[in-house]
Amino acid sequence: MSISIPKGTFDILPEDPDSKAVWRHSHLWSHVEGVIREVANLYGFREIRTPMFEKTELFQRGVGAGSDIVSKEMYTFEDKGKRSMTLRPEGTAAVMRAIIEKKLYSQNSINKLFYIGPMFRYERPQAGRYRQHQQFGVEAVGYSHPEQDAELLDMIHTLYKELGLVDLKFMINSVGDKESRDHFKLRLKEYLLPLLTELSEDSQRRFEINPLRILDSKNEKDQELLQGAPSILDCLNEASGEHFYSLLHLLDRLRIPYEVNKQLVRGLDYYDKTVFEISSQQLGAQNSIGGGGRYDGLIKKLGGPDLPAVGFATGIERVIQTLIAQEVDLPVAPCPTLFLIPLGDAAKEKCFEVLHQLRRERIHCEMDYSGKKLKQVMRYANAIRAKSVAIIGDNELAAKQIDLKDMLSGDTKTVTFEGLIDHIRNEKTVR
Ligand code: HAM
Repeated sequence: MSISIPKGTFDILPEDPDSKAVWRHSHLWSHVEGVIREVANLYGFREIRTPMFEKTELFQRGVGAGSDIVSKEMYTFEDKGKRSMTLRPEGTAAVMRAIIEKKLYSQNSINKLFYIGPMFRYERPQAGRYRQHQQFGVEAVGYSHPEQDAELLDMIHTLYKELGLVDLKFMINSVGDKESRDHFKLRLKEYLLPLLTELSEDSQRRFEINPLRILDSKNEKDQELLQGAPSILDCLNEASGEHFYSLLHLLDRLRIPYEVNKQLVRGLDYYDKTVFEISSQQLGAQNSIGGGGRYDGLIKKLGGPDLPAVGFATGIERVIQTLIAQEVDLPVAPCPTLFLIPLGDAAKEKCFEVLHQLRRERIHCEMDYSGKKLKQVMRYANAIRAKSVAIIGDNELAAKQIDLKDMLSGDTKTVTFEGLIDHIRNEKTVR
């Protein structure tokens, strides 16, 4: 019996036989990652790559034991040395671990880092939700100023725009600093206490552990009960309020559209002050395409100095799925400019040499090694979308020239072996 792929994971292939899986075509991933790298560099973020697994404690302390990610979704295992390890469910805690361990803050007072890579969460798989998903994330460590939050949001806005995405909803809120949050938690609990038994089981559990998370409950009844709840924005102290409203002012100056959503709290425990989330209408139930916020207390909590930081991550699957749903013009997979079909051994040798020369000139070409029937070989050339084909036999070798057949128009052009490279180059510039 053959072995199948683990549930909630997928292969990224040059071409997936499943016509609904175009988003898994590798050239689209390369394209999106290319745009991501360009935009990240433009905004001064430099790449970091951390291990795919870390000590479990990092996420327990970093993301928070009360969060769904840590309490329900981690891939945790004991290694042969009996140490508890976890496949990273997100990137922020790991990047902070690296910054603290390598004391990157003493080298540079500001560290702006980005990463692209897989994250692992044991969630119930559904459209847009996977057990291994890929994130592009950025973390900016060192500035507490709202300009840093605004720069990040500007970068995100530019990234989605450069990719060609439209109609995204940018929601923003502040969960305040610790003092503001403590004040708000008290007021929220006061409001919810008489309603406690009517709340969903999940929300009742959160009432003690993390009442803020009740605000983003997906339960309709919970949401009804929350209608008259106090607003966190009314509980911000002076510093948190000033930070939030200065950020909104900067976004207005840059004409970056946003919507203040006072219910937005996000699912990870480390957030402090700014939180934001970007959603796409095309994604259905799992509509969050990206999210992030400020996490000023995390580095200290993980044993580092008291440094402010703000970051964001976007799921690459959801980005590509939205691009396809929005029918954005996307690059086609690379295909050979020329496909050579030799007839006989002498032609095979000559073609092999030509193939080598063309590739040295950066011309994408392929040739047939099989010697199968012409019809079969042509079918293959068609399948790999060769732009033109040349059949080379003894006559072509004697005349030192070949006929290039354009696969789209069917037109044929005769070119000498010597003039082949120049001809292809000229054709490319004309097209
Ligand atoms: P997050 O909201 O948990 O944030 O994940 C970021 C993005 O990853 C989501 O908006 C979504 O697009 C994608 N994503 C998350 N889980 C899945 C899944 N199971 N399947 C497919 N896509 C998924 C974080 O991870 C934070 N570390 C972001 C951050 C960075 N905050 C500050 N710095």
